[in-house]
Amino acid sequence: MRIITSKQEMRCLAQKARGQGQSIGFVPTMGYLHSGHISLMEAAREQNSLVAASIFVNPTQFGPNEDLARYPRNFASDSALAAKAGVDVLFCPEAMEMYPQGYVSYVETEGLGKRLCGKSRPGHFRGVCTVVLKLFNIVQPHRAYFGQKDAQQFIILKRMARDLDLDIEMVSMPIVREADGLAMSSRNVYLNAEERRQALVLSRALGKGKRLFAAGERDAAALQKAVQSELAIATLGRTDYAEIVDMDELLPIVKLDKPALLALAMYFGKTRLIDNTILI
Ligand code: PAJ
Repeated sequence: MRIITSKQEMRCLAQKARGQGQSIGFVPTMGYLHSGHISLMEAAREQNSLVAASIFVNPTQFGPNEDLARYPRNFASDSALAAKAGVDVLFCPEAMEMYPQGYVSYVETEGLGKRLCGKSRPGHFRGVCTVVLKLFNIVQPHRAYFGQKDAQQFIILKRMARDLDLDIEMVSMPIVREADGLAMSSRNVYLNAEERRQALVLSRALGKGKRLFAAGERDAAALQKAVQSELAIATLGRTDYAEIVDMDELLPIVKLDKPALLALAMYFGKTRLIDNTILI
């Protein structure tokens, strides 16, 4: 596996691969890799002749009171895991390489970026869209792989790709969970033992929502109430939101007569966990 830190070098490699008729699959990450990230790399490996992944803890998607400085990092483990998953090129630029002095250009998906997580993380999706578009321009992938774990992120990035005419196939992969149901996340390491135990309310609440939906419940308010009461069991948790929204605009829906996203966010101390399921 080749490790590249320079944009120029990454671009040259991508251009050469494209010139040789190779297909490039790309997995952007912020590192501290777990099985969720690895599942994306394995999918990219199956479907492309060249697999690129990036590790970049993107400063523009963190708010001033968020965890940028303490975001977990482990390059030795990450590079070993990526190599094992079949990644050919690992792109790991420094912050100054991506945002040099005088950087002023940003991408915004109006409306979408202000809903769900955007309410408590203003500017977050602007940072995500900006860095992903920059990474796309550098890595020049044919396909890019994302997790449904960050459902809003995927919906926003897909819209960006459509609106800005990117010739990239956007692929979403299922949520990978721990054996007990907690969605894997680099941020799970922040939880202490009791918070980790209580964090199971997220997947349990989704399960409850899914069961009620399967039993015929189509009233979003009733479903939302049931989910919220399950979340309230976590005495150490604080619900940020539990919403049922449509899959395009991420706006609340009243009657579930088309596929909907049931999305949750909950704080344990300063740690914010998200999870979701599609009601279909
Ligand atoms: P990060 O949180 O590192 O996640 C990288 C990719 O892994 C995202 O597409 C995310 O949805 C996916 N992922 C995370 N946990 C997962 C799980 N449990 N199951 C399946 N997929 C999972 O998301 C980001 O980084 C950044 O915002 C990024 C897109 C790299 C831009 O900076």
